[in-house]
Amino acid sequence: MHHPGQIDELTDVLPCVNNIPIILPINTPHNTPMTRTWKDVERLTVKEALKEAEELREEINFHNYRYYTLDSPVISDAGFDRLMLRLEEIEERFPGLVTPDSPTQRVGAKPLPEFGTIKHTLPMLSLDNAFSEEEAREFDRRIKRFLKTAQEFEYVAEPKIDGLAVELVYENGAFKSGSTRGDGYTGEDITQNLRTVKSVPLRLLSRGKEKAIIPRRLEVRGEVYLPKEGFRKINAEREKKGEPLFSNPRNAAAGSLRQLDPRITASRPLDIFCYGVGRVDGIQFSTHMEMLEYLKKAGIKVNPLIDVVDTIEGAIKYHKKIEGLREKLGYKLDGVVLKVNNLALQEKLGMRTRNPKWALAFKFEPEQETTVVKGIEVGVGRTGALTPVALLEPVTVGGVTIERATLHNQDDIDRKDVRIGDTVIVERAGDVIPEVFCVVKDRRRGTEKPFTMPAVCPECGSKVEKTGAIHFCTGGLSCPAQLMETISHFSSRRAMDIEGLGEKHVEQFVKDGLIKDVADIYYLKKDDIVKLERWAEKSADNLIESIEKSKTPTLERLIYSLGIRGVGEHMAGVLAREFKSLSPFMKPGMEANMEAKEEELMAVHGIGPETARSIVDFFSEPQNVKVIEKLRKAGVGFPGKKAGQGVLDGKTFLFTGALRTFSREEAKRLVEEKGGIAAPAVSKNVDYVVAGESPGSKYDKAKALGLKIISEEEFRKMVQG
Ligand code: IVH
Repeated sequence: MHHPGQIDELTDVLPCVNNIPIILPINTPHNTPMTRTWKDVERLTVKEALKEAEELREEINFHNYRYYTLDSPVISDAGFDRLMLRLEEIEERFPGLVTPDSPTQRVGAKPLPEFGTIKHTLPMLSLDNAFSEEEAREFDRRIKRFLKTAQEFEYVAEPKIDGLAVELVYENGAFKSGSTRGDGYTGEDITQNLRTVKSVPLRLLSRGKEKAIIPRRLEVRGEVYLPKEGFRKINAEREKKGEPLFSNPRNAAAGSLRQLDPRITASRPLDIFCYGVGRVDGIQFSTHMEMLEYLKKAGIKVNPLIDVVDTIEGAIKYHKKIEGLREKLGYKLDGVVLKVNNLALQEKLGMRTRNPKWALAFKFEPEQETTVVKGIEVGVGRTGALTPVALLEPVTVGGVTIERATLHNQDDIDRKDVRIGDTVIVERAGDVIPEVFCVVKDRRRGTEKPFTMPAVCPECGSKVEKTGAIHFCTGGLSCPAQLMETISHFSSRRAMDIEGLGEKHVEQFVKDGLIKDVADIYYLKKDDIVKLERWAEKSADNLIESIEKSKTPTLERLIYSLGIRGVGEHMAGVLAREFKSLSPFMKPGMEANMEAKEEELMAVHGIGPETARSIVDFFSEPQNVKVIEKLRKAGVGFPGKKAGQGVLDGKTFLFTGALRTFSREEAKRLVEEKGGIAAPAVSKNVDYVVAGESPGSKYDKAKALGLKIISEEEFRKMVQG
């Protein structure tokens, strides 16, 4: 598909974009391609074909411009595809009519044996750098000294795009050739590849009241770049195929543009921003900004953040503003470029050998730095996930000193081949946690040590198991790193439902050493609680009472509250129904019998291998079993579920819509207490759907499945037996 963004309705009022009035070509958009009929290609005369092909090209170019340059299409994808198809059809029937600037020529050109070279008419210079405000002010003072004036003058301030500099040559409005910067004097001929960049117009626009003058020759300079999103996608694909990753969007853009096979270039979502000209025949500009406005009018893509500032202080403000925007933009910047706006002044200032004296690259803080991995430490998160963290030789990145960087997981370490002692590139983007980006392999001395995850949890000594790419500690009930998370989950409404035990309290009890594992909740004493800050007789009484009240959970709630990885409410229900009590899991010798147990679990409908594994791991961890025993000793009921126990025994209920006399939670609890199951979603296993007021989509699905639907009243009667 050509246009990802879909426009279904065409509007008559077209906006001005970048102050360019939009003038429509003859056929657009009122004569939409979706309703237009075309003569059979076989019956076209050459003259008719020529005329139609020219019109189609103009129309397609216009839509490409709207879409790729202005980001504001006025045609649907399908409409656009129809235009392209028609043009391809004509060109196929009349190959003599194909022109090199036809939009059909953007893709599919043959691979080149090697690049030719192109000499730049005027050298492509580079820029002097400044890394601080003071250096930027010094640049301004230097200019004033040179001009022997104290008077202020305007700068054009532009984002400095992190990509690859190119030159595009247009002759009589048609894209003729394009090249890389090369050594500044001669570059590589990458014409075919640049044709595939959708925002490079193959024809300059010259339409409307304010007709852009089309010079005999126009050399445009700009930066080709790969948007961040495209970069991520390409690297994700390369990773899948096991190909080496691009280290940053700039390398990816350069690699894509310097492909000998333009079809590969065409598959990469490259883009361009133009910021200058080389030789221009027949147009005079008096300021840099005037020239940029002209480029926009001619349909060339210019960065919308470019602005004119009155003084160097204005430029410094601009630098700050753009640095603040940096994270939000879809492309990478490495600074701003300041250019004296007045071209006569530029002329006066002239050049040094490689840099113009009238321009400056005012850099941002770099986001990447090189440093050494001194060691690798393993952290345990609240969920029990083990994360390897590189301990670094301290280094400043983006103005912040970093000493640690995440390595994500073992798979990532293996893929990047990070070893202790390695020299690495670390990256920090905005507030994101710094990460080890890649290893500088040239710096290896052979003494670096590979790393593997520990077999036991560094926090609690429980066994470590790998699920997907992540290593997890299996000691969920006792691991101190997971304690906060475990307790929050354990006491939550849908689990043991301990009212009044909020996160803040848990934090307090843990900090004070009153709670070291979940079972300790049931050993809390009023006397200990009232001694703590912000507690009084009454509140302590209330808490002790709600802890007492939570001692008689249903089996599903008890299983759910243990926080076994992969065992949510639904799975807890499945296990409760199938095994009827916790005892089958608590048998001594579970460890010796792991495989058999796993198989037994997998035989139950709805339990996959990963969940089976995780359940067996959980119960074979002695630390967990100890805590479960401790719970039992504290008087927590371990319900056994026998057939024929409750009036709703074995029946599955689903609730939809608002109930009048119960809260959803109450209703579910009631079902469970009476031996039934509260289903989380519609499925054919549901026996009764209880429909409250204004039921939602679950109701329609239940109806479609032909499930039995009952009212709240009927449900009440069933519960009451
Ligand atoms: S002007 C004589 N403007 O930065 C002026 N360059 O370090 C020459 N760049 O080779 C360049 N954005 O690849 C200019 N808005 C911008 C730019 C820009 C990125 C790159 C360009 C150039 C390099 C110079």
